[in-house]
Formats: sequence, structure tokens, C-alpha cells
Amino acid sequence: MADNILDRFKEVFDPEEAKTAGRKLKVAIIGCGWIAEAHVKSYLKCDDVDIVAAADLVPGKAEAFFAKMGVKNARFYPSHKELLDTEELDAVSVCTYNATHAECTIYALEKGVSVLLEKPMCVTLDEAVAICRAEKKSGKVLSIGFQPRFDANMKMIKKIVQSGELGDIYYIQTGGGRRRGIPTPFGTSFIEKETAGLGALGDIGCYSLDMVLNAVGYPKPLTVTGYKSDFFGKSPKYSNKPEYVDIFGVDDFAAAFVRLEGGIILDFRIAWAMHMDTPGDSLIFGKDGGLRIPSTDCWNGSVGGKMKVYHDVGGAQVETEVPILNNGGRDLFDMKIRSFLDAVVTGGPAPVPSSEILYNQAIIDGISRSAELGREIEISIPEI
Ligand SMILES: NC(=O)c1ccc[n+]([C@@H]2O[C@H](COP(=O)([O-])OP(=O)(O)OC[C@H]3O[C@@H](n4cnc5c(N)ncnc54)[C@H](O)[C@@H]3O)[C@@H](O)[C@H]2O)c1
Repeated sequence: MADNILDRFKEVFDPEEAKTAGRKLKVAIIGCGWIAEAHVKSYLKCDDVDIVAAADLVPGKAEAFFAKMGVKNARFYPSHKELLDTEELDAVSVCTYNATHAECTIYALEKGVSVLLEKPMCVTLDEAVAICRAEKKSGKVLSIGFQPRFDANMKMIKKIVQSGELGDIYYIQTGGGRRRGIPTPFGTSFIEKETAGLGALGDIGCYSLDMVLNAVGYPKPLTVTGYKSDFFGKSPKYSNKPEYVDIFGVDDFAAAFVRLEGGIILDFRIAWAMHMDTPGDSLIFGKDGGLRIPSTDCWNGSVGGKMKVYHDVGGAQVETEVPILNNGGRDLFDMKIRSFLDAVVTGGPAPVPSSEILYNQAIIDGISRSAELGREIEISIPEI
């Protein structure tokens, strides 16, 4: 099972001391694109936060972004380095495209700044290991931006599995996708190899892996046979934007068969585009029961319909429907930001710890490498 060893290295703060310090947390944004908006909106709702700075590689983008969001009296920098070299910060949100997640996060941790890092954690397993080592050395908080973790329905999946109702888990099918949904709403950073590094596999694959792996306690991945393709992104006939066909450099579909510690099999598929409505619901098979999690047509952090538990009750085969749960009107991003800030104030643990997402990234990396080699590979995760 995933071990939370990194959490033992956190500095221990006295929460009362943090409160009586009476000072606002100084926060900055690195990468001022699409998702940074959600971070800023949520930070602006927190009384104990001052958003003091922003950085973006594109000249003028950070300034224009803060003007649009109504953030005043902030300072602006041309990259994460100048920002972190200059500012005294408590925390940063790393909202850059995937390819720069690792360098921005490691630099921030080396400067003693806690990090809320957008998903996927990074592009490769080597980068994930370097991030975890920087976190361990820094003693700061690193949380990964999986807001579906805060959804009541996602929590229910974990509660059902951990209640023991399904018995020992031996097989999981997960994944999802869209008939057409290659994400290019604000440019090409999701589809270029140099910026995204990964396609559907990293973008939405990381969510569907997290949904089930979190439920079963993040068993260590052992081996993987992976496949990936780019038939839609590279096809002038099916690409959502034919002018992007030449620059499409990532996967739009991936599938895998993964063996996990504890004898669990993980059967996975994910699609940004396909000639199908869904690649199937997520299914968790246990020795005493099964759980069906209806697929969503787009990853929005919830389930696509009522979940169903299949179990035997009093000798009869029974299906129990799980009602859709709401989040009491709370926004998932608000919960993601607030839980991160609370961990910064108290010294942790991180709400979405890197020790778990390291395994998520190891599977993604394994699928990618196995697909390129055309054979099954062993997944080897170095000590942090
Ligand atoms: N949690 C979610 O629901 C969610 C949703 C969308 C995107 N994301 C993730 O957020 C990340 C960003 O996505 P996006 O759509 O905002 O991308 P984007 O391309 O719109 O914005 C990224 C910005 O980062 C900047 N940048 C890159 N490297 C930098 C550096 N070293 N220093 C300063 N700025 C840098 C780029 O110039 C760009 O403006 C991706 O990893 C994506 O997977 C998460």
C-alpha cells in the first residue's frame, strides 16, 4: 500500500501559533492560463490570503490576467524563477502546462515555499521522483490538484470499498472519455508534446486512476502493458481543429492492463476522442460484492449517474442503488484551495499527498513507455 512516509518529514507547526501570528498568507500564481482563474477565484474567497504576485512566460499575460480577475497591488515576473528569487511567499499555485510542472514545483520547494501543483503531477516518473525528493528535503506542503477528491460521490466510492462490503478487491476496470473532446479551448498547450508531454492519458487518465486507486488505498503498481494512439488528433477528417493536425504531438487514446500489489488487476482505457459514446463504466470487483460507477461524458469531478452495489443479502442477489450526493453547495475548487491552505498553516498533511500521486504518475509513465516499447514492462519506483 502507498506509504505516507513523506508526511513524517513535515515541519510541525502549532496551529494556534499560526493563528495568533495574525498575518495573512502570501500566495503567488505561476502560470496565468485557463486553470489559474479557478485558483484565483477561490483564493479571493479566503480572508487569510493576500495574492501578491504572478508569473507567466508570455509577456503581459500575468498583468492582464490579474487586471481581469480584479487582483490589485501585485507584482509580476517573466517566469517562476524571477518570482521565487524575489518574493517572500508562504505558498504558490503551479498552474503551468504539464511540461514545466516539475521545474516550477522543485524550484518553489527549494525556496521553502509550499506548493499546490495542478494535475497531472508532471510528465514522467523521473520528474515525479525528483518532486517528491524536493518536497521531503524542504519539509513544506505539496498537494496535487485533484479537486474530484473533495466530491461527496468520490468520497462515497472510497467509503464503500473501505467499509469491507465488497470484500477483498481483485479486479478494477476504470477509465472514461468523450466521443469528441480534444481540449483546445485556449490554444494548443494540451496537444503539443513540448508543453503537454501527455495527452488524454495524463489529462483525464490521471483522474480516473485516482478515483479507483484512492478508493483501494493506492496499491503499488508492479507491471503494465500499455497502448496509446493519436488517430483523431492526427486526422484532418476527425480533428476538432484541422489546422492543429500537424502540431498534435500527444495521445488521444490510451489503454492498459496493470498489475497492482495485493493481486489486484487494473484494466484501464481513456479517450479524448473515439467512435463510441463511452469506453465503459468503472467497475470494482470484490470477493463479496461489486460496485458500478457510471461513466461521465466529460471529467467534471463527479460520477455519471447513480452508483450500484451488487451483493448477496440473505442468500439473494441484491442490487443497492447509491443516491447521487451533493456537496452542500460548496465548490470543489474552493475545497481544494482551502484544504491546501489549512495544511500550509498547520504544517500538513497535504490533502492530496504526493506519496499517493507518485503511484498514479508511475502508472501513466509505465503505460507510455510500454506503449512505445510494444511490450509489458515492470514498474520500478525508486525510494524517495
Ligand atoms: N484541475 C483541473 O480541473 C484542471 C483543468 C484544466 C487544466 N488543468 C491543469 O492545469 C495546467 C494548466 O492548464 P491551462 O489550461 O491553464 O494551461 P494554459 O496553457 O492555458 O496556461 C499555462 C500557462 O503557464 C505558463 N507557463 C508555463 N511555464 C511557465 C513558467 N516556467 N513560469 C511562468 N509561467 C509559465 C504559460 O505561458 C501559460 O500561460 C495543466 O497541467 C492542466 O492539466 C487542471
